[in-house]
Amino acid sequence: MTAVTNIRTDEVALRKAPMLIGGNWVDSASGEVLEVENPAHRRPIAEVPRGGAEDVARAVQAAADAFPLWSRTIPRERGRLLARIADALEARVEELARTIALETGNALRTQARPEAKTTVDIIRYFGGLGSELKGETIPFGEHILSYTRREPLGVVGAIIPWNAPVLLAALKIGPALCAGNTLVLKAAEDAPLGVLMLAEVCQEFLPAGVLNVLTGLGEECGAALANHPMVSKLSFTGSTEVGKLIMRAASDRIVPVSLELGGKSPSIVFPDANEDWVIDGIIAAMRFTRQSQSCTAGSRLFLHRDIFDSFLNVLGQKVKALKLGDPLDETSDIGTIINEKQFRKVCGYVEEGLKRREARLVIGGLPPKEGPLSEGYYAIPTVFANVANDWRLAREEIFGPVLVAIAWTDEADAIRMANDSHYGLAAYVWSHDIGRALRAAHAIEAGWVQVNQGLGQSPGHSYGGYKESGIGREFSLEGMLESYTQRKNVTINLTH
Ligand code: NAI
Ligand code: MG
Repeated sequence: MTAVTNIRTDEVALRKAPMLIGGNWVDSASGEVLEVENPAHRRPIAEVPRGGAEDVARAVQAAADAFPLWSRTIPRERGRLLARIADALEARVEELARTIALETGNALRTQARPEAKTTVDIIRYFGGLGSELKGETIPFGEHILSYTRREPLGVVGAIIPWNAPVLLAALKIGPALCAGNTLVLKAAEDAPLGVLMLAEVCQEFLPAGVLNVLTGLGEECGAALANHPMVSKLSFTGSTEVGKLIMRAASDRIVPVSLELGGKSPSIVFPDANEDWVIDGIIAAMRFTRQSQSCTAGSRLFLHRDIFDSFLNVLGQKVKALKLGDPLDETSDIGTIINEKQFRKVCGYVEEGLKRREARLVIGGLPPKEGPLSEGYYAIPTVFANVANDWRLAREEIFGPVLVAIAWTDEADAIRMANDSHYGLAAYVWSHDIGRALRAAHAIEAGWVQVNQGLGQSPGHSYGGYKESGIGREFSLEGMLESYTQRKNVTINLTH
């Protein structure tokens, strides 16, 4: 069997996409399959193998077999292969973007294409880091030579979600492989096709078994990978709930774990920032054009009381101007929610907000029951004002386009509310007064604070969460060194 090539992303033809184990494109051992649905039309577009424990065992064995040679390959050479993968992927970036849009429902222009391009950047970035796997020498005196080596951990087991599937796959592949580990990666059941396409490009350049990509359900395939005794490192991106299971599995075998989990990130707007560019920034930070299915979504908006109503008026108008529509249509700003379960969950939060008498609906509401948008999982961008920070709407990660606005007058109170969350992933501060903005940035309990912008992550910045948003950092050189290598110290007595 060969990998899927020439995927026709413009039409709905059911196709079979095998998974990658030990350099071969294979079905699951059971022969069972999972359907992948296009959430914009609720029609199946592909079948992928329903991988299980037996497939995990084969993939882990293939990765373990590939480890000795790969870990001893000169780091610069490993990096060179990643750079070649980046070049080859760049040539297929449009095809990749369309595949992402088709399976995730993310709009091509605003999300899927940028994701495909950033994926290339990420692989290229890690391709350049081979020679940075440096150790240290320790000054114990003239008669002692003591130095550290950065050694790979072995077989890495990585599990990723569907919200930015290909980018998140690259974030595991790049650092794990550059550092000399081999990898078994489980794609999310809702979005495996782009990840398989990335795997296909990788496999053109990598020795067999260095990268293995499995498709399957979390409780079957994911759990078997997390619990496999030969996996020496777990890296997980997804819900806090499953993150806890992964950490438990890691604790059983004392293997290191990186977790990139959920968020309920605050945006604090100071009264001097009642301006158009701030409102645009709030919309960007909320990731409305990704249906807000983002762990860094700035989903709690803390607005100073003096500007509360006027700011929300303009915000409402701007949000209303965003166009929902077919993800493959270049004019669509916003696509669909990933699947029915998430769609219902998001609608449930909107219903709850509508029932709250104190809350004011600024814009949005429940999705239409008829018309073209009712064909897919289109959620309407929604903003509620006068929400209290202790409501479910303000505490739980909705992972959908529901923004809640909360008024404040006292700066300390705004920061207290921002920090009153079990999450601590991202935060956004908006003010012309840079001293005040930075005081707030330093006081906020979050792994990543942006001042006066609401952008996404870039390769090079150490990204990760405080509190229940996760453990460990990814996206950077430091993240690679900390998360994908272990230090060995060698100490030599020079007097003998
Ligand atoms: P999830 O955490 O269940 O799924 C993420 C990945 O974990 C998938 O590959 C899934 O197959 C796997 N998985 C699920 N159960 C597993 C288990 N028992 N053992 C091993 N692997 C397992 O996320 P889901 O159900 O798709 O979304 C639920 C909520 O999670 C969302 O509403 C959102 O709040 C949050 N989420 C956060 C993400 C983030 O980027 N931080 C990404 C996706 C979801
Ligand atoms: Mg789940």
